[in-house]
Amino acid sequence: MQPDIIVTAPLPPFLYDPLKADYRCHDYHQAADRPGLLAANGAKIRGLVQGGGTMTPTTLLDSLPALEIISVFGVGYDGVPVAYCRHRGIKVTNTPDVLTDDVADVALALILMTGRGFVRANRFVQAGEWQKRNPELTTKLGGRKVGILGLGRIGKAIAERVATMGMKVAYTGRKPQNVAYEYVRELEALAAAVDFLVVSCPGGEATRNIVNAGVLAALGRKGTLINIARGSIVDEPTLVAALQAGTIKGAGLDVFADEPRIPAQLMSMDNVVLLPHVGSATRETRQAMGDLCKANLDAWFKEKKTLTLIPELV
Ligand code: 8YV
Repeated sequence: MQPDIIVTAPLPPFLYDPLKADYRCHDYHQAADRPGLLAANGAKIRGLVQGGGTMTPTTLLDSLPALEIISVFGVGYDGVPVAYCRHRGIKVTNTPDVLTDDVADVALALILMTGRGFVRANRFVQAGEWQKRNPELTTKLGGRKVGILGLGRIGKAIAERVATMGMKVAYTGRKPQNVAYEYVRELEALAAAVDFLVVSCPGGEATRNIVNAGVLAALGRKGTLINIARGSIVDEPTLVAALQAGTIKGAGLDVFADEPRIPAQLMSMDNVVLLPHVGSATRETRQAMGDLCKANLDAWFKEKKTLTLIPELV
């Protein structure tokens, strides 16, 4: 008997097709009648597959009394009610490591695009402006300082990349780590000391809006905000206001508070680079994430094991 699983996010075919081959999949995301789907199948569902950004309410989990495992197709699991899952003994797995390099590449790209004005320069060429005048000068990145909020796997990969370019690195987080970079305890103090503040910590309640007015004021006119983590970590209206008032230099954003909706004011800003949450969006990495997402389910249903259980449940 194939285990029943519920799918609460849009999945790419290279994950969904193999899942359909080995599991009885119930597509909650696409279902026209979600209460009907739960009423008919909720009691037999043993696994749940969701995306990194998918919010899973406890009320949904309440209607899945036989649920054993949530396998997240993504590294972030801020949408999973972890304390609730611990209480019910539900395993939660994610897809760490396989996406680290790609996400760090995007952070580096956003630093280059904002710092060196490459998006503006591209528009300049495409608009035929080069025939009329020289492009503007920008600022050398070597020697500038990057502050990393959250020196986890991705934060470390970002630090390595920018260090290679001759940039200085400082970081903040819960505690200092055994690394060669400068530790700054307070986020505001880090923001005050750097040219680029890179958000690379987990989302969720513990970090909601921690990049607030005080942090942005400390970042100041010299500073650019880069976010490759979660939109929830940044107070987005306050960020928009700071950009409008010119109290920070610019922003490079891959993630937003309410994706795919983006504050309209950001669209026309010359000092802002916007990406549509593409941190892990390469074929190779999404395939590896899909493979790991399914491998966690397979390990659980075949051997009662998990490959990448989230740290809170280890
Ligand atoms: C994906 C992500 O967009 O891994 C994450 O946490 O946010 C991204 O890699 C998402 O998880 C795909 O479902």
